Amino acid sequence: MKRCLFVMVWLALALLPASCTTPAQHSPRPAPLAVLGAFQQEVTLLREMLTEVQVRPIEGIEFISGRIGTAVVVVAWTGVGKVNAAMTTTLLLEHFRPRQVIFTGIAGGIDPNLEPGDIIVAKQTAYHDAGTLWTEGIEYGGVRNRFTGEYNPVFFPADPELLAVAEQAGRALTFEATALRAGHRPPRVVVGTVVTGDVFVVSKERSAEFAAKLGAHAVEMEGAAVAQVCYQRDVGCLVIRSISDKADEEAIMDKQLFYAMAARNSAGLVVEMVRTLTRGSDVE
Ligand code: ADE
Repeated sequence: MKRCLFVMVWLALALLPASCTTPAQHSPRPAPLAVLGAFQQEVTLLREMLTEVQVRPIEGIEFISGRIGTAVVVVAWTGVGKVNAAMTTTLLLEHFRPRQVIFTGIAGGIDPNLEPGDIIVAKQTAYHDAGTLWTEGIEYGGVRNRFTGEYNPVFFPADPELLAVAEQAGRALTFEATALRAGHRPPRVVVGTVVTGDVFVVSKERSAEFAAKLGAHAVEMEGAAVAQVCYQRDVGCLVIRSISDKADEEAIMDKQLFYAMAARNSAGLVVEMVRTLTRGSDVE
């Protein structure tokens, strides 16, 4: 009798519609827009704007979800360098399945027209330290995509929708003038190539080499790694950076001077992007 009852209960549970057992599956949250930065300060502005906040630590890394207006957003900081960036991005993609990923932060300007506070929206990212190292120098090349076995490109292209929205947001924003060595001027938003490597660059000569060989406008330490993970998983990605230094012999001092302002400017553009996307109401 007991056994019969058990079988009946088991059968009843097994035949229940899925909606009765797992109601959450029928009202899933929409795929969030993800915003990453290397340092906590680089995503603070975004984090402070979130409502309906949920903090989810994964392997000790906090992923903070919430809403900005109607947009569902998840925010995290990766730590410095390519491996930290790739690791955090992988956890993000696995656990949150974001619709797109934006990386925000600071960079060393290589293009001499870029000044601290200016924002570079990366139409593409590349590693400046990947390929074959000959006596004459590096021959840039991608490694094979671990999933498909195909060679990755040297340049990871930006998500076209995010790139267009960033340009639109850049036109809509007005920034306060920045106090530079050469006087005051408001930050500019430009589109260009950002290169990534596991070194903080403090050499005008090396920077010039990245410009000559890769057409680089700015250099940083995470962007291409985030872009590679997204590329290999077919998720759109955009890297946005604001200039904190000129990747020259003054870079360490300049970074200290301009870091906070640059981090704020880059995050400010991302906030404006979220507003623009929400107005188009396709983030919700
Ligand atoms: N991020 C900000 N400035 C940088 C530099 N000069 N080199 C690498 N990453 C940076």
